[in-house]
Amino acid sequence: MIETKGLTKYYGSLAAVVDLNLRIAEGDIFGFIGPNGAGKTTTMRILATLLEPSSGTASIDGKDVARLGKQVRRVVGYMPDFMGVYDDLKVFEYLEFFAAAFGVARGRRKATIDGVLELTDLEGKKAAQVDSLSRGMQQRLQLARVLIHDPKVLILDEPASGLDPRARIEIRELLRELRRMGKTIMISSHILSELEEMCDHVGIIEHGRLVFSGTLEEIRQRVGLHTKVRVRISGDLDKAVEMLSVLPEVQVVRKLEDRLSVTLREGGSDGGLIAKTLVQADIGLLELVPEQLKLDDAFLQLTKGIVH
Ligand SMILES: Nc1ncnc2c1ncn2[C@@H]1O[C@H](COP(=O)(O)OP(=O)(O)OP(=O)(O)O)[C@@H](O)[C@H]1O
Ligand SMILES: [Mg+2]
Repeated sequence: MIETKGLTKYYGSLAAVVDLNLRIAEGDIFGFIGPNGAGKTTTMRILATLLEPSSGTASIDGKDVARLGKQVRRVVGYMPDFMGVYDDLKVFEYLEFFAAAFGVARGRRKATIDGVLELTDLEGKKAAQVDSLSRGMQQRLQLARVLIHDPKVLILDEPASGLDPRARIEIRELLRELRRMGKTIMISSHILSELEEMCDHVGIIEHGRLVFSGTLEEIRQRVGLHTKVRVRISGDLDKAVEMLSVLPEVQVVRKLEDRLSVTLREGGSDGGLIAKTLVQADIGLLELVPEQLKLDDAFLQLTKGIVH
């Protein structure tokens, strides 16, 4: 649904985006993650037809963004990372303005506006001044605005930034709802864990280059966070260390205060053999858990170039 090939953008001599190749499938929620200045907004603005690439191509729904801007804008809802100031404008006036701008027929505007207000849970704020809304409500209003022309594709630049945890959850739920409606969503953030529960795929960008692209599961494997298991037993720890150390899939066993930390060899399993060995030896197994993925640690590893 969204595809870039060799996408590159220079601002003068500064390379903001370099040879970016992305493929986002229809119906996917794609998390676009990177630190400040990585090139997220630049990429999204190109996709939203607001900026021309220096070289390379980008297309949405099979339409080249640089050549078929008008058609692309019809299928894309773009939410920028900042909101303009709208003095003295009420919520429904604001949405009416955009409905008109997007060519929603006069007779359908009211129903359309009511629909997006309901979806974003802002019905009660219809007559409120835009400037009087809280930040979380303003973000939802932004989403209501980008939904006005019922776009298939949403490009959302940091929609959850600056929100408190509750407002963040509300946005997350709203995005899930939009996905159920069949939208393809590209969403940026500089915090990987913020998108963890939401995204099918993520792309990590740094200094304009894609350093990783894949599923969260692939990130876990890539940074090796899968290869450690925590084991708690009721029996003799030393005996367990002895038994586990000789297993072919085990690299090292460390004895901690009340448990064992087992590091598996590359390509090692999920620890099934460990469980089997302990159980067969009649050692009571209380707990066997893969070490939790600390996504933000993974992100730091990936963006520091530790992993290639
Ligand atoms: N209009 C511009 N003119 C010149 N340089 C720019 C312009 N916009 C962005 N840049 C530069 O391009 C690089 C990428 O910026 P961009 O805004 O795309 O990053 P970002 O990933 O969205 O960052 P953030 O997380 O801070 O929003 C940065 O070095 C930035 O300074
Ligand atoms: Mg940005």
